[in-house]
Amino acid sequence: MSKAFDVVVVGAGPGGYIAAIRAAQLGLSVACVDEAARSDGKPAPGGTCTNVGCIPSKALLQSSEHYDVAQHHFVEHGITMKNLAIDVAAMVERKSKIVAQNNDGILYLLKKNKVMFFQGKAAFSDRKDDQWMLNVTPTGTAKEKNVLSAKHVIIATGSSPRALPGVPFDNKRILDNEGALAMTNVPKRLGVIGAGVIGLEMGSVWQRLGAEVTMLEALPEFLGVADTAIAKEAAKQFKAQGLDIHTGVQVDEVKADSKGVKVAYRDSKGGAQKVAFDMLIVSIGRVPNTQGLNAEAVGLKLSERGMIEVDDCCRTNLPNIWAVGDVVRGPMLAHKAEEEGSAVAERILGQKPHVDFNTIPYVIYTSPEIAWVGKTEQQLKASGMNYRSGSFPFMANGRARAMGDTRGLVKWVADAATDRVLGLHIIGPMASELVMEGVIAMEFGASSEDIARICHAHPTLSESVKEAALAVDGRTLNI
Ligand code: NAI
Repeated sequence: MSKAFDVVVVGAGPGGYIAAIRAAQLGLSVACVDEAARSDGKPAPGGTCTNVGCIPSKALLQSSEHYDVAQHHFVEHGITMKNLAIDVAAMVERKSKIVAQNNDGILYLLKKNKVMFFQGKAAFSDRKDDQWMLNVTPTGTAKEKNVLSAKHVIIATGSSPRALPGVPFDNKRILDNEGALAMTNVPKRLGVIGAGVIGLEMGSVWQRLGAEVTMLEALPEFLGVADTAIAKEAAKQFKAQGLDIHTGVQVDEVKADSKGVKVAYRDSKGGAQKVAFDMLIVSIGRVPNTQGLNAEAVGLKLSERGMIEVDDCCRTNLPNIWAVGDVVRGPMLAHKAEEEGSAVAERILGQKPHVDFNTIPYVIYTSPEIAWVGKTEQQLKASGMNYRSGSFPFMANGRARAMGDTRGLVKWVADAATDRVLGLHIIGPMASELVMEGVIAMEFGASSEDIARICHAHPTLSESVKEAALAVDGRTLNI
């Protein structure tokens, strides 16, 4: 059946469903198409984030952290337990329920906002006058083929895990993020190739549940994207937890059979090594999803790396075709995709929204959590900018002591001349929440002194954020 809309959004991940809702809020008629299906065939909107990323990983991180705390830290609180046990299948089942609740939540939100949802795979077919035409082939429980037309199309098709060359994922022994979230038994020896965000989060889950985890990272430096002080502290904490992280590694061969996986690699000194695992997670980045869109037929321009080329406003080379999220340049983060999706919907209506990449927060949900916004100290050094920094350890924070988690620190960097905040870097309890103080400070152009003069509730972890701001001027009060 043929249906006409003002906007068709392809993809219902955080970029797509938010774009669809915002466009509908602004009075446009909107269709949103997503091919994902649950095991029973029902629609599974929400993209990687909801189905095999942010949400399920946080569910398993929480379950495994509860187990770890019960095992190792309850005793400090005077709580002893007998017969502590884990039921991995129940943890995975809980995770799947949470995912399904989120899928249903997104379907409800689309309906509430009068966005017409189509379960299927959309591909460009033609352009008639100023209308883009898309064929939608049904997937899952959907039956009907549809042809959609719209003046504006927003592509939000996301990304897929990148495989090692010649080593396809089988999700039996060689796992991507989806496989890493679906194991129902704890592997004895777990290998992880790529010590980035997914590797660290998934490695942490399975290490806490009892796996011996070895991580093989290509870059010579561990967590080079983070501020060096934070990366150094993270390396120390992860080592203490038992994560065996090797950097400067070159993987030469991966061979899987029914018994396990053998990996041959060269270590940082070029020495040949062989190691055997029961399971191997490969987390070496992701590639944009553009196959199947029939992008070539309409002349949509892709970069050499397969990303859809866009300008600062997410406009592609074709009139009224926009692209947001993982399928375009910039960090592959759900919240970045959401901001772009919302901004594109507003631009269609002639508004002038702005997404500032410099204030996008980054979080790694390990224990302790790692979070940052803005420039790292090494970036500032490299740019030749004069800056001041101030740090404060959670060890000196009363709330952290009472909680029993004093690992980590907070660090601000600020312009030496104007004191304007340039970045906030945290490793420690609830870093993912605390980092928002830095995001707000940067959005409002605050100085470190502004933060230092703001009354923070006592006793809270956020007092460490204030104390680190005082430290920029060398005047901490509690250390
Ligand atoms: P990543 O880019 O975070 O890390 C990949 C790591 O693999 C890098 O350290 C890289 O140096 C290493 N690597 C690349 N090729 C290698 C090779 N051949 N051998 C050994 N190491 C190699 O990518 P990751 O962890 O796969 O995550 C993909 C995306 O998903 C990222 O953009 C990430 O931001 C996003 N994500 C975000 C989360 C969050 O915000 N908490 C959680 C999970 C994923």
